[in-house]
Formats: sequence, C-alpha cells, structure tokens
Amino acid sequence: MSSKPKAIAVAGKGGTGKTTTTALIIRQLLKRNFGPVLAVDADANDNLGASLGVKDYKTISGVLSSFMDARKTMPEGMTKEAWMDYQLNSALEETKNFDLVVMGRKEGEGCYCYPNSMLRNFLENLRENYRFIVLDNEAGLEHLSRGTTDHVDMLLVVSDHAFKGLRTAATIGGLIKDLNLDVRSVGLVINRFIPDMEKELEPLVQASGMPVIGTIPQDALVQKADARMASMLELPDDSAAVQAVEDIVARTLDIIGEQSKAS
Ligand SMILES: Nc1ncnc2c1ncn2[C@@H]1O[C@H](COP(=O)(O)OP(=O)(O)OP(=O)(O)O)[C@@H](O)[C@H]1O
Ligand SMILES: [Mg+2]
Repeated sequence: MSSKPKAIAVAGKGGTGKTTTTALIIRQLLKRNFGPVLAVDADANDNLGASLGVKDYKTISGVLSSFMDARKTMPEGMTKEAWMDYQLNSALEETKNFDLVVMGRKEGEGCYCYPNSMLRNFLENLRENYRFIVLDNEAGLEHLSRGTTDHVDMLLVVSDHAFKGLRTAATIGGLIKDLNLDVRSVGLVINRFIPDMEKELEPLVQASGMPVIGTIPQDALVQKADARMASMLELPDDSAAVQAVEDIVARTLDIIGEQSKAS
C-alpha cells in the first residue's frame, strides 16, 4: 500500500476504558471495510490482545531484551540485523481481519539504542502495509514520543465522568504540546456516561480543552464479555457500547477526511 495509513490513538487515565474503546474502534473500521488494520498495544499493562480475542503473543520488549541476552551467543553466520528482523516479524500476530503488535513492558537495563533503532525501522516499514493503525496508549504517551508512529490523525482521550479522568485528559493535552507530537485532531470520549450529567461535566470538559467527540454508556454486555475474557469483536451489534463507538468512529472518519466505504 503506497499512501500513508491513517492513525487513531487512544489514551487516558488507567481503567477508564481505553482498551475497550480501542477494540471497539477496530471492530467498526473492519465493519466499514477499512482494513487492513494494524492494532498496536502501546500500554505496558498490555490487554488489547485479549479484547481482540488474541490469546498468545510475543511482545516487542521481549524481543528487545532477548536480543540483549542473545547478541553474544548468536549463531555463527547470522547477522544481528537478520536475527532482529526475524524476531520482530515473529512478534507480529496476524489474524484474518487485523494484525497486532504488542509493545510490552520495558525489561532490563542497558543500552537499547541499537535494537530500538531496528524497531523504529521495522515499524516504519510495517505501517506502510495498512490502511489504519489503531494504538492503545498509556496516559504518558511514551510510545508516541518514541516514534512508534510518525503521526496521529486523531487522538481520542477516554475519560470517565470523574474529575481525575478529565484532569488526566487536560494533562495529555499539555503533553502533546510539550512533546511536540504530530497529533492532528483530539477528541474526548466520555465512557460510562451517565445521562443528565452534562451540566456537572461542562466545566471539567471546558478545562480539558478538548471537544467531546462522543459518549459511551455503561454496558453490561461489555462487562459480561470481559468476565468471560471474550473479544469485543464478538459483542452483538445492538450492544449499547458497540453502537456508541459506531457514532464515534463515524465522527472521527469525518474529521480526518475519510469516507466510509460500507457499513
Ligand atoms: N462502557 C462500559 N461498560 C461496561 N464496562 C466497561 C465499559 N468500559 C469499560 N468497561 C470495563 O471496565 C474495565 C476497564 O476497561 P479497560 O480495560 O478498557 O480500561 P483501560 O483504560 O484500558 O484500563 P488499563 O489502564 O488497566 O489498561 C474492564 O473490565 C471493562 O470491561
Ligand atoms: Mg488497557
């Protein structure tokens, strides 16, 4: 694929619903024929795989730390490049509908400059194969600042309706500026939204400095699926959360200038 993929990143305070939202966004992109999609779990506390029904996967940080261990005992005739290339490719989980890369938690100390630069090259080449990249991030946006993706078309900040969640949203807004990230649009998603709370929320939303792009209600089907460790891709179409994210994706596609091909 020659044109640049569109990137949607999801961030927010821990436990607010980032991973659920990310998985439901991927579900909508696939439904609208916006594949191929690359899902990137950039949260050290990785659980996007489970929400997408991928049970076993390698992590990129696992590859980087085994490189640190293996570099002295590499088989003769094998270059460091070939070793890393093979291992990084084997950390790409391919499914019928989407591919998944899990960054994982940074392990061990030492200089990761070489493997990190291999990783940047790998991701740079990899992303060209997709129409959409969807990233599940930590509030600190570590991977965006490390160049996991070169630009973000839409950053969706997920918050519950609590003061702390919305304050984190404001902090993330500040980070984008401080880190000088190439983030083209931002929008707030209020998860577990309680109807009739608009008035109480208004000053907090104002303070976040971000427009609300949509709300997601509390949905018992999401909780039941989560308890069964079932994928968000298996929820019924009429689940309240699925429908809410359908609207959020429609608005996002409008904002980033993508026309829906099918629904
Ligand atoms: N709209 C919703 N309705 C019901 N349950 C929800 C909803 N959104 C999220 N949950 C549940 O809340 C919990 C936290 O959601 P999730 O894992 O998506 O949050 P997170 O921000 O990714 O958390 P972490 O910071 O731990 O990665 C999960 O058990 C999930 O099933
Ligand atoms: Mg998560």
